[in-house]
Amino acid sequence: MRHFLTLSDYSKEEILEILELAVKIKNETKNRVFKEYMHKQILGMIFEKSSTRTRVSFESGIYQLGGVGMFLSSTDIQLGRGEPMSDTSRVISRMVDMVMIRTFAHSKIEEFAKYSKVPVINGLTDEYHPVQLMADYLTIMEAGLTKNLVVAYVGDGNNLAHSWLMLAAKLGFELRIATPKGYEVREDILDEANEYAKESGAKFFITNDPKEAVTDATVVTTDTWVSMGQEDEKEQRLKDFAGFIIDSNMMKRAKPNAIFLHCLPAYKDYEVSEEVFEGEQSLVFQEAENRLHAQKGIMVWLDQKRDEK
Ligand code: CP
Ligand code: NVA
Repeated sequence: MRHFLTLSDYSKEEILEILELAVKIKNETKNRVFKEYMHKQILGMIFEKSSTRTRVSFESGIYQLGGVGMFLSSTDIQLGRGEPMSDTSRVISRMVDMVMIRTFAHSKIEEFAKYSKVPVINGLTDEYHPVQLMADYLTIMEAGLTKNLVVAYVGDGNNLAHSWLMLAAKLGFELRIATPKGYEVREDILDEANEYAKESGAKFFITNDPKEAVTDATVVTTDTWVSMGQEDEKEQRLKDFAGFIIDSNMMKRAKPNAIFLHCLPAYKDYEVSEEVFEGEQSLVFQEAENRLHAQKGIMVWLDQKRDEK
C-alpha cells in the first residue's frame, strides 16, 4: 500500500504514470464517460485549514469515480478537541477506503499515515502541497512546455516552493527560486532535492533577486505571501515581500511564450498584478481545473497499488 505524502517518496516513472492516468481519465470525463474506477469507495477528507479547490476537486473527483467523499472538518470531529492523530487514524481508516488530509505540521500527516489501514493523501501541510504540483505539471504538459523547461518560482520559500523543489528534483528540470532574505526554502529540503538532482539532472538556482530568476523562464509562478496559519505575520510580510510582485514588467523578462501559474487563491496586486493574472499568459483556471483531473489520477493509482507492499 502506498501513501501520497510528498513527491520525495515517488520516482520520475511513478509521477509520469499518475499523470498519464490523469490525462486518460480527463479525456474520458471530457467525453462525459464516467468509469467507476472506485465503485462504492469512500474518501474521508479531513480539513484542519480552509479550502476551495482541494475540497471540491477531491469530492467531485471521488464521486465521478463511482465513490463518495466525506467532508470532515476538524472543528466538527473530535480531532479538533484534542483526540490524537493516531487514534483518529485507527478509527477512520477502518471505516473508509482512502483518506485525504489538510493539516499544519507535516509530522501530523505522517503520524496519521503510520497508523492508517488505507492510503493517505496530503492535501497540504505547512511543508508540502504535492497534489497541487501534479495539477501544475499537467498544465505545463498541456501547454507543450515540458522540453527545456525552466520554472521561476518567485515568493515565499513555503510549502509550494518545497513541492516545486521535489518535482524538479524528480523530473529533472531547471527551477529558479527567488525569495526575499529570511524567507528562503528550508535547507534540509534543498539538500534532499540536490541529492535527487544528481540522478535526474535537475538544476536549482536560489536567489533573492526575482528579476534574475524570471529571465528567460518558460513558466513563472508564485503563491500568496501569507500562508494559512501566518495571519499574525501579515503586516511584516507585506513589507518584506515588496518588489516580489509578478507584474507585466517581470513577465516581459521571461520567454515570450512563457505561461503564468498560481495555485490560488491569489491576492491581486500583492504577489501578482491584476493584469498578469487576467492576461493571456495566465493559465490559472486551467490549472485549477486540472486539480480535479490530477486528483483522480492519484486516487485511482493509489487504489491500484493497494495490495502492493
Ligand atoms: N490551491 C489550493 O490548494 O486551493 P485551496 O486552498 O482552495 O484548496
Ligand atoms: N501556501 C499557501 C497555499 C494555499 C493553497 C498556504 O499554505 O496557505
